[in-house]
Amino acid sequence: MKVSTVAIILAVAPFLSLAATETPNTISRPKDYYQGKPPKYQFPNRGNRKKVDIRASCNETDDISAEFLEGIRKANNGGTLVLKKGKMYVIGKKLDLTFLNDIQVQLDGQILFTNDIEYWQNNYFPHPFQNSISFWQWGGKDIVIEGRGEINGNGQAWYDGFAGKQILDPKNTYLRPILFTAVGATGLSVKGITMRNSPCWTNFLADSTDVIYDDVFIEAQSINQNRPKNTDGWDTYNVDRLTVTNSGANIGDDCFSPKPNTTNVFVQNLWCNGTNGVSMGSIGQYPGVMDIIENVYVQNVTMLNSKNGARLKAWAGSNVGYGRINNVTYEDFYVDNVDNPLILDQCYFNLNETECAKHPSEVDFTSITFLNFSGKSSAKRGRVTVEAVCSENAVCKDIYMEDINLHSPSGDPAVAICDGIKGGIGIPCLPANHTDAKAALKDKPKPPTATGT
Ligand SMILES: *[C@@H]1O[C@H](CO)[C@@H](O)[C@H](O)[C@H]1NC(C)=O
Ligand SMILES: *[C@@H]1O[C@H](CO)[C@@H](O)[C@H](O)[C@H]1NC(C)=O
Ligand SMILES: *[C@@H]1O[C@H](CO)[C@@H](O)[C@H](O)[C@H]1NC(C)=O
Ligand SMILES: *[C@@H]1O[C@H](CO)[C@@H](O)[C@H](O)[C@H]1NC(C)=O
Ligand SMILES: *[C@@H]1O[C@H](CO)[C@@H](O)[C@H](O)[C@H]1NC(C)=O
Ligand SMILES: *[C@@H]1O[C@H](CO)[C@@H](O)[C@H](O)[C@H]1NC(C)=O
Ligand SMILES: *[C@@H]1O[C@H](CO)[C@@H](O)[C@H](O)[C@H]1NC(C)=O
Ligand SMILES: *[C@@H]1O[C@H](CO)[C@@H](O)[C@H](O)[C@H]1NC(C)=O
Repeated sequence: MKVSTVAIILAVAPFLSLAATETPNTISRPKDYYQGKPPKYQFPNRGNRKKVDIRASCNETDDISAEFLEGIRKANNGGTLVLKKGKMYVIGKKLDLTFLNDIQVQLDGQILFTNDIEYWQNNYFPHPFQNSISFWQWGGKDIVIEGRGEINGNGQAWYDGFAGKQILDPKNTYLRPILFTAVGATGLSVKGITMRNSPCWTNFLADSTDVIYDDVFIEAQSINQNRPKNTDGWDTYNVDRLTVTNSGANIGDDCFSPKPNTTNVFVQNLWCNGTNGVSMGSIGQYPGVMDIIENVYVQNVTMLNSKNGARLKAWAGSNVGYGRINNVTYEDFYVDNVDNPLILDQCYFNLNETECAKHPSEVDFTSITFLNFSGKSSAKRGRVTVEAVCSENAVCKDIYMEDINLHSPSGDPAVAICDGIKGGIGIPCLPANHTDAKAALKDKPKPPTATGT
């Protein structure tokens, strides 16, 4: 339609006025950018399964973890464990569920973890990646969890206990369990459920293949000033073939963030509120270790009130790792009140400019495509809506952006900053040290004018 064409031209025009100073642009849309299809996986015999019931809890301290484990054992190898609507199932003991083979959990009730912090900080499944711990771990083959129920991490006591602490602080000893962890799963489907108030990350998928989430909603809320922290929606480690569709997260950290060695990822129709964005990484954290994120397609994301929209994040600093983020496409992003709608960050984590320049990241960003971004930032970065600054020790090439129609409450023109990227980024951009870029960063929204009513 004419109107939208005009709107696009108007939105792009401010960039065009900077053409004299922009980074030379030699790149055009890659013909073979990954358009992504969900990887296919066939679960066995879904109909006519043996049903297994267990006793529900009478109250929030009535721990039925032993009955739960027994129910899982009985339903294993072709059956379905039924957790009924309106019932509560309290888990107060850590559970190793990595022996599974063809099981379904019909989750229409609520699984609630106890908030006995002392117990859980002494009884858990550890994972070396970022010193993670879990209430339970699921693994094996052909695991289906579906229904309209929820898994509830009883997070408030953890939010209160963790207040003022920092997860990546090497001295932090206040560990918090992950709500749902899969280790060594082949064929895992989670559908329809809500995952609520995780003490820490919500989902951690490790050493697994063919993992599918559909119609899953993640929420973490606090009743006081102690915000939920690090309640990431989905984190992965050594995962191949992951699909997340028609899902949402209302949480305080990354909405979706594949981590080291995640390949063939398909994300479609994702809603995120109050998050740290759809982030690739962080990767490149551990000295001498090579991390890879490759073949990712993310399409139709609504990102509200968040720190980042689409983000790539790689570690820099002394004593970190290396690797690559390659062949990633972000398509159809709508942002509202987002600090960094589109950002490539190679100075993770908490590094100042001097430190980052001294020890630049060694994670390459290659073949990264961003198509059709719209909406507005929070103006936290002034009029800057796109930042793509690459380390001199890494290769950043084939970074391509098209139809980037982002605005700032600070007004137009919106500005893209880019540095260290071979061949430009497909849209006009300014080096970070350019006067206009510096001015754009400082440009805060004008206070609303009085309306006289
Ligand atoms: C919770 O239920 C269990 C099992 O019925 C019971 O033994 C216990 O007294 C109850 N606790 C409270 C606080 O009601
Ligand atoms: C795009 O995603 C949103 C959720 O963010 C969803 O409501 C909408 O239906 C999706 N659009 C299409 C065409 O599927
Ligand atoms: C989105 O998050 C903000 C806080 O970041 C909150 O105030 C608001 O209620 C949330 N919206 C929805 C629809 O959950
Ligand atoms: C990731 O894969 C690479 C290449 O296969 C391997 O060298 C590296 O150790 C893996 N990293 C992790 C964190 O497992
Ligand atoms: C990107 O990944 C997809 C999925 O694996 C693959 O089909 C495609 O060929 C890859 N593109 C390039 C340029 O390697
Ligand atoms: C661009 O993305 C928006 C959602 O953010 C969508 O409504 C629109 O249809 C997309 N445009 C094209 C040309 O696909
Ligand atoms: C940057 O960080 C390093 C290491 O933490 C510190 O020694 C230095 O003073 C910092 N520089 C600035 C300008 O803040
Ligand atoms: C900006 O940085 C570039 C490359 O680092 C350098 O060549 C140029 O002189 C700098 N310009 C200003 C105005 O500092």
